[in-house]
Amino acid sequence: MKPGLRCFDCHRPVHAAANQHHCPRCGGLLDVIYTGLRPRRFHGRGVWRYKAMLPCRIPPVTLQEGATPLYRCPRLEEELGLREVYVKHEGMNPTGSFKDRGMTVGVTMALQLGMKRVACASTGNTSASLSLYAAKAGLDCVVLLPQGKVALGKISQAMMHGARVLSIKGNFDASLKLVAQLCESGEFYLLNSVNAYRLEGQKTAAYEICEELGRAPDRLVLPVGNAGNISAYWKGFDEFQWWGYVKNRPRMLGVQAQGAAPIVHAHQTGKREVTPVRKPETVATAIRIGNPVNAPKAIRALQQSKGDMVAVTDKEILQAQRDLARLEGIGVEPASAASLAGLRKMVKQKEIARGETIVMVTTGHLLKDPETILQECGRPTEVEGNMGALKRALLA
Ligand code: F0G
Repeated sequence: MKPGLRCFDCHRPVHAAANQHHCPRCGGLLDVIYTGLRPRRFHGRGVWRYKAMLPCRIPPVTLQEGATPLYRCPRLEEELGLREVYVKHEGMNPTGSFKDRGMTVGVTMALQLGMKRVACASTGNTSASLSLYAAKAGLDCVVLLPQGKVALGKISQAMMHGARVLSIKGNFDASLKLVAQLCESGEFYLLNSVNAYRLEGQKTAAYEICEELGRAPDRLVLPVGNAGNISAYWKGFDEFQWWGYVKNRPRMLGVQAQGAAPIVHAHQTGKREVTPVRKPETVATAIRIGNPVNAPKAIRALQQSKGDMVAVTDKEILQAQRDLARLEGIGVEPASAASLAGLRKMVKQKEIARGETIVMVTTGHLLKDPETILQECGRPTEVEGNMGALKRALLA
């Protein structure tokens, strides 16, 4: 199929320069659209199985991202009183987060567009992923991280893959503004989720879920920060139905942390515009975002899908993280556990019917944020290396 760019707001076709991510006429976000015949069959596994529905026309920069497991969760089903609950564990991607789906496509597009340098601002995972794909592609990479608020695993990845890692004295929203300005010169290619090509990679998770279930779920639950992923999933489900591969689309349930919940507030008050949260705060640093750039796309996804937004406390997030790990063996970072915390809240409020098929997305791996885990779980018990001491420790 033939890809093109269109304005998300005024729907007019856009012939954008590489460093342009908004409509030159109305300033709206951009969307990738496709014309031509859809393929009858798909070949291969993961993101590139769907290459006909992706914008790239050169060989991909890939480490076999996607094709992540969809786990059935019987113990959570029992607890929640729901018939069918799954977790799509996106932490099983090459760098341990869903960002890899976007970056394999985004960095391939950077090459296709002739860019030599790439950049992003990040709460951590985007930077880890971009650093890896830039390394693989042989591109220079700069990442801007909000100082003191990025989990250790993510910083380690960006450092090891050879990016220039800059710690910005400001939060994510300020860092994103800065990097967007840096990229305006055209010297760096911006790979935050305002980049419509990147979101094309992320939508493939929705295709995978549909293919595996033979239909779309009734509800998709996921954490929301900058709101790129919820927009990408909805686009994926919408396209899969439009092209006739499945007959239904899910209702979207977005979850934000209470201290960083601008889209929840907009949704609850019926507003189309989001009022930014000036000082976002949450233990789930991945979604510590006050001014989500993709809010217009997310709000339309919520309207079209009759979706919901819910806010959860840090305590609820940490409890959900522990329960996913201990009831289902699924190790996720705090932001990802927001999915379960949000689903629980909706079940309590009797907003979910027992017979619904639910898919929760867990966006990042447990190992991303070891410091929070040690704070929560404590440290191992120290024991002298003899049997007496071991037995005493086990009885304690
Ligand atoms: N979960 C995790 C683990 C994330 O890292 C992010 C975003 C989200 C959820 C939210 O996704 O922004 O598309 O709504 N992390 C970005 C980053 C902002 O820089 O790594 P979103």
